Amino acid sequence: MPHIKTTSEEQFGTPVKALSPGDAEKELDALIDEIDAADRAYYQNDAPIMSDAAYDLRRRRLLLIEKVFPKLVRPNSPSSRVGAPSSTAFEKLTHRTAMLSLDNAFNPDDVADFLARVRRFLKLDNEVPLSVTAEPKIDGLSLSLRYEDGILISGATRGDGHVGENVTANVLTIAEIPQQLRDAPAVLEVRGEVYMTNTDFAELNRSLEKRGEKIAANPRNAAAGSLRQIDPAVTASRPLRFFAHGWGDLSEPLAQTQFDTMSRLADFGLQVNPRLSRCNSLDELIAAYTDIEINRAALGYDIDGVVYKVDRLDYQARMGSVGRHPRWAIAHKFPAERATTVLEEIDIQVGRTGALTPVARLTPVTVGGVVVSNATLHNQDEIERKDIRIGDSVVLQRAGDVIPQIVEVLIDKRPEKTQRYVFPEKCPVCDSLAVRDVNSKTGKADAVRRCTGGLICNAQIVERLKHFVSRGALDIEGLGQKQIEEFFHAGIVSTPAEIFTLQARQEAGDVDLYTYKRNAAGEIALKNGVPQATNQKSVDNLFAMINARREPALDRLINALGIRHVGEKNARLYAQNYATFEGFQDAAIAAADEDSDAYKDMLSIDGVGELVAAGVVDFFREKHNREAVRDLLQQVSPLRAEKNQVQSPVAGKTVVFTGTLETMSRDEAKSQALSLGAKVSGSVSGKTDLVIAGPGAGSKLKKAQDLGVEVISENEWRALIG
Ligand code: IVH
Repeated sequence: MPHIKTTSEEQFGTPVKALSPGDAEKELDALIDEIDAADRAYYQNDAPIMSDAAYDLRRRRLLLIEKVFPKLVRPNSPSSRVGAPSSTAFEKLTHRTAMLSLDNAFNPDDVADFLARVRRFLKLDNEVPLSVTAEPKIDGLSLSLRYEDGILISGATRGDGHVGENVTANVLTIAEIPQQLRDAPAVLEVRGEVYMTNTDFAELNRSLEKRGEKIAANPRNAAAGSLRQIDPAVTASRPLRFFAHGWGDLSEPLAQTQFDTMSRLADFGLQVNPRLSRCNSLDELIAAYTDIEINRAALGYDIDGVVYKVDRLDYQARMGSVGRHPRWAIAHKFPAERATTVLEEIDIQVGRTGALTPVARLTPVTVGGVVVSNATLHNQDEIERKDIRIGDSVVLQRAGDVIPQIVEVLIDKRPEKTQRYVFPEKCPVCDSLAVRDVNSKTGKADAVRRCTGGLICNAQIVERLKHFVSRGALDIEGLGQKQIEEFFHAGIVSTPAEIFTLQARQEAGDVDLYTYKRNAAGEIALKNGVPQATNQKSVDNLFAMINARREPALDRLINALGIRHVGEKNARLYAQNYATFEGFQDAAIAAADEDSDAYKDMLSIDGVGELVAAGVVDFFREKHNREAVRDLLQQVSPLRAEKNQVQSPVAGKTVVFTGTLETMSRDEAKSQALSLGAKVSGSVSGKTDLVIAGPGAGSKLKKAQDLGVEVISENEWRALIG
């Protein structure tokens, strides 16, 4: 989060070497106060008060002063905190069935579109009845409970949807979660929401405040904080509640519809929301939504919308999911809440791809129960279009988890002598030129201004490292974002490979991550002539967590590289398609030639278009990237990805659908083929194994015949896949 005002050290005036010891001491005092305050705000309050650049600058200045005036080093200096990773408390628990999230609708038109999509996918005419349930969307945190033979076995948070945290000990203390179910099936995974009522929340905050403890910003944070307590006794003392809203693993179907399954869950003894209803038309859904919205305040707990789910479970099964969202459900969100505040400053963040993103620093204001002090300003055009100026009063909007946005400038309230904001044309971190690419097709300038500094830009290096260790990537726990910065600025880590050599370097004495006890003069205190590390355990934990990632899943490693346009989803596609890192890299290098088979193959991966392929090709075209990858591969051995885990007659085959399908939509056919482990391609080539041709099939059918590719009808396809 570099700060535009602090681009160089000159801002601190006197060069360190020219400081008198007295001035150095004064400055050190001030720096320590500022850094401590920033750390508290960042770590404890989750509300940064300083941009990353401003913070880094202060830390660097502090290190420099300490280097020039070693006598002034304080025992409590922030410089001694490098290398103190936070420990992790909960074990991981892998969900046997992924925990999905929901797509959003914001108005009745979106809901109508949802219903139309459902009908189209299932090929249901308007006359065919379609029931959909409606229920409040609880603003809590999701939890998965596993019951075996009716006994509560485990509880896990959602985590990234595949792996969550094992919070069983805490779950066992929640009164509303039964530890034993009546007449439950052999295996039942209940999914639902942990939450806190508004009165319980207010009372909890009162008592926390009385005891001088940190209070929570809203009931959801209070619920999340309470569930993730290391000591279950603390969780037990917190008024947590639970509503079931679905299920995961299940040994036998409980009913044929969502609604009836939910009432079975209630029969077992679980809490199901009393406002769950079944609707038969768009109008009925909107009526249910309105009814819940009108009664929102009276519910006594926070909700942020209404969830609709296709009622018939056979329909749900046919529809499946796309990415992380089931196709058969949607959240109809309540309108975002708004508030007015003052724009105090505009900071420029530099992201891992060099994108300069303006961020509004605001006078803190409460919007929908949350204190907001930052908002995104998107890009240069957005600021210019709205003529947003520092000092302006602005209307802020916050919708659910989305980053707050400035929706309006109150021109009437504009103070005198404000100036139009001038977007920087240089990177605030490395001072390189920042440019807006021009789209060669449209001739229009890209909305995003990017730093051209590449590898010399510290912001980009740090952001890439942060991405590398983040949850969807290598997920190195204990190596947090702030710590990456500290390691980088301390000159300890600047490439992914260097993360994995930390332990060896510590053991060889090349780096020192330990924090030592110091005496009043700031010198390292010795005990029997040996310095005593105060954080040895946490550093050892960090090494253990790094070592635990030496055999990463292939998709995680690909995602971790931070290739443009290759996030979790595309990384998974590449991993499944190429199975090994070498396969992926060789293909990416060969695909630089757009006439090559490698390039065509890459584009034949369903979901990979020219843009995504270009991201990969461009990445491996750069020598420094290939070198970074080479170094990394000396440290880690990615696991082979299962090319096709699914056992089916079409697993691993490349299939093409052409012509009209009669019993299902094209989308359903495609999603079914993918779920059976087939690859679906849009065009016929020598690589095609099977063409499913319906009436009206034209050139693709002909090409298949020319190439001698097997062609079957829709009925034969259905028979083939059973
Ligand atoms: S159903 C496969 N129903 O909202 C669909 N989710 O944005 C799973 N949530 O992660 C979700 N109330 O934690 C569903 N009545 C409700 C819900 C609900 C709250 C949460 C849930 C999910 C998130 C999705």
